[in-house]
Amino acid sequence: MLKYDIPILLVDDEEDILFSYSFALKSAGYKNITTASGGQKALDILEHRAFALIVLDLYMPEIDGNDILDFVMAKYPETPVIIITAADDSQTAVNCLKKGADDYILKPVDSLRFITTIKNILEKEELKRQVESFTEATEASHLKCSSDFSSIVTKESSMFAIFKYIEAVAGGMQPVLICGETGTGKELMAEAVHKASRRKGAFVPVNVADVDDTVFSDTLFGHRKGAFTGADKARRGLLLEASGGTLFLDEVGDISENSQLKLLRFLQEGTFRAMGSDTEEKADVRIVLATNADLDKKVTEGRFRKDLYYRIAIHKLCIPPLRDRKGDIPLLFSHFYKMAGVELGTPEKNFEKAAAGILSSYTFPGNIRELRAIAYDLAARSPNMLTAGDVIAYLESTGRSRGAVSSAVPAGTQFTYSGRFPSLKDMENILISEALKISGGNQSKAAALLGISRQAMNKRVKG
Ligand SMILES: Nc1ncnc2c1ncn2[C@@H]1O[C@H](COP(=O)(O)OP(=O)(O)OP(=O)(O)O)[C@@H](O)[C@H]1O
Ligand SMILES: [Mg+2]
Repeated sequence: MLKYDIPILLVDDEEDILFSYSFALKSAGYKNITTASGGQKALDILEHRAFALIVLDLYMPEIDGNDILDFVMAKYPETPVIIITAADDSQTAVNCLKKGADDYILKPVDSLRFITTIKNILEKEELKRQVESFTEATEASHLKCSSDFSSIVTKESSMFAIFKYIEAVAGGMQPVLICGETGTGKELMAEAVHKASRRKGAFVPVNVADVDDTVFSDTLFGHRKGAFTGADKARRGLLLEASGGTLFLDEVGDISENSQLKLLRFLQEGTFRAMGSDTEEKADVRIVLATNADLDKKVTEGRFRKDLYYRIAIHKLCIPPLRDRKGDIPLLFSHFYKMAGVELGTPEKNFEKAAAGILSSYTFPGNIRELRAIAYDLAARSPNMLTAGDVIAYLESTGRSRGAVSSAVPAGTQFTYSGRFPSLKDMENILISEALKISGGNQSKAAALLGISRQAMNKRVKG
């Protein structure tokens, strides 16, 4: 972003001070400046708009800068904040830093120090962004052709490692087995294998779960006219349909013993016989398979042929569940939320960063498919700006939070206090007021956040 485009918010109750701050910033080349002359005005603006940096005077008559800082930390936890405070009150400034402010400037404000502090923070942020996008770009640049994987949204190294493996094996003719829980994107990955193979023929997917052996043979190998009662026309099997391309056998862990044997024969010999035919036919097909079953276990239990397993698992890749690649959750949520907005005709709908963050604490047993469904439903139900509180209430109301949301407090969270050690009651009060703040005063959402009932919340607020 160019320097003059960086949106900066200045908050101070004194108009002439605001004027001098903006003047100093404009002279230094920053042109996108918004001013708020007082706490309430700042809150009104921040309700609907995010900034790259906020400069905040702590002492204002109606709403204190501390409250604005709390609001910003809850709603825009990543936005850097610079506090401006009186020279004799550096302790307050230090407390603000503990809360998450990035730096402070003591009054009277020296304009050179003011600009240098702002510049330093913006440079640090820019560097952080560059490092992030550099890491992603480097991962992608290690791929021969990243466009083969463009439909798979990710920034996780574990996924890029899979892409590299696919590039290494895609050119060959050995089968590729894709494992992963339901909804992890096995079909997308199979398509990527096909693209990376550069095979000219079609990608033909077929779900072979719960099909009996006759249907399996008919689907893959086809039949001659009159092969069985009702076979009044010949049928070309999918092996021929996929000739020169890729046949994707989905849910292969569930096929019958006879079907397992037939598949093994085809993989070993590259030939097959249509039902009712004595002639061996050849098919130039790459086989990609997927399963969400534990095939190793099935082999041990004698429910899946060992020889077939070794044959199909020559190249095996396992897609990690979404809960093991939490970095992808906000990215995928944003992707689906925007897609939903476009499809629903409400592309202007947006969400707080913290709203996507809340989702990271959910375990997603249905993986990306479930995240997609949540994003679409939230986009349909939410107002223009989806808040963290909305997401918490949604997870709760759809029975997802209980037991499924792991600790919302990240491991290693520091707890600091000054003076007397707080009592449990003190902490309860602090937590209640924080939850109310995050949920914009909505008691149901605050109760969901705290994991208590609406009634229990109401009693505490009154009590
Ligand atoms: N990384 C991703 N980026 C974008 N969309 C994804 C990603 N992973 C999965 N999806 C989408 O999530 C949904 C589920 O993916 P897919 O059907 O490939 O899962 P699966 O592993 O085959 O699940 P199942 O075992 O239930 O068949 C699809 O709509 C797919 O497009
Ligand atoms: Mg699937």
